[in-house]
Amino acid sequence: MIMFEYPSGCIARRNAVSLLQGNPVKMALKLFDPPESTNGATPITNSNLNNKTSRRRQTRRNFLRSALAGGTLAALGSAGYAWRIEPLWLQIIHRKMPIPNLQHDFDGFRIIQISDLHLGAGVPLEYLTKWIDWIGRRRPDLVVITGDIVHRAQTEWCGIVGKLLARIRVDNRPLVILGNHEWGAFSMGTGSAQTADRVTAAMIKEGLSLLRNESTVISRGSSRLYIVGMEDYWSGRFNKQTAFTGVPKSSPCIALSHNPDSFIDLLDTPASWILSGHTHGGQVSIPLLGPILIPIQHKQFVAGHYQLDGKNLYVNRGIGWFKRVRFNARPEITEFTLTHI
Ligand SMILES: [Fe+2]
Repeated sequence: MIMFEYPSGCIARRNAVSLLQGNPVKMALKLFDPPESTNGATPITNSNLNNKTSRRRQTRRNFLRSALAGGTLAALGSAGYAWRIEPLWLQIIHRKMPIPNLQHDFDGFRIIQISDLHLGAGVPLEYLTKWIDWIGRRRPDLVVITGDIVHRAQTEWCGIVGKLLARIRVDNRPLVILGNHEWGAFSMGTGSAQTADRVTAAMIKEGLSLLRNESTVISRGSSRLYIVGMEDYWSGRFNKQTAFTGVPKSSPCIALSHNPDSFIDLLDTPASWILSGHTHGGQVSIPLLGPILIPIQHKQFVAGHYQLDGKNLYVNRGIGWFKRVRFNARPEITEFTLTHI
């Protein structure tokens, strides 16, 4: 069980307790003292005027002091929340996934998507293990992992990823695609194929099934569902012609593509849904201003469900982080239930 500390709450509680330790009636009266009264009219003299001016200055100083203290406390509280609480406060999202031409055998088929684990970036293993075990207990039909599994292509974490995902015992093996971190790519075209191949080899050694510009078919009776896994969009190797080879045009099809910018490129493919990650929901989203960092070209694709030309994009906010800070962008696990239309 993960415990959180609430430093500001503890101080508040301590203050309340110390108040109650005295005479409660007296304390309550003290708290609700009326503003100081002059008890009737006061004759105006020079010394009174000076006293009034000095009292006004003191009141203003007290007000500024209180405002500063309040602001500091609020800032510290928000920082503590964004660092200690929200990064681990995972949200489970359930969504319907209507798919054209889906056969009845796949009605109710459940897919769980996780993304952006960022192992190696200080994401606690016990936190990930807790949620991976939860996924196992949910017994979905399929689990997909949409990239950025190991932070900055650190292959030493691939063993742990293999062991983590092996804890999920479901009918179909989890399907994995690469993200920009597996490529060591931090903008368009900056990654290294050698790095991506090294991470891939380490993951395959741990028994993971990777899709790099390729498809796989899931069968139920005589019905089929195509899953296409795209190479990372920033890698320069993103290739939809190769990836969709052998996928019939009107077949039920879902594509996995780490970077949501790829949605526009994939509109003319058989995929009716694109599952992405990468943005982390902006990680820090200021009320009224929105996310402060969205590393994509189409800034509107920050998190959640989008529709264009009858196609769907879902952007998962990820389970881990780049730096341990989240505000108004909670980590997420998404469970889709397929329906036919
Ligand atoms: Fe990421």
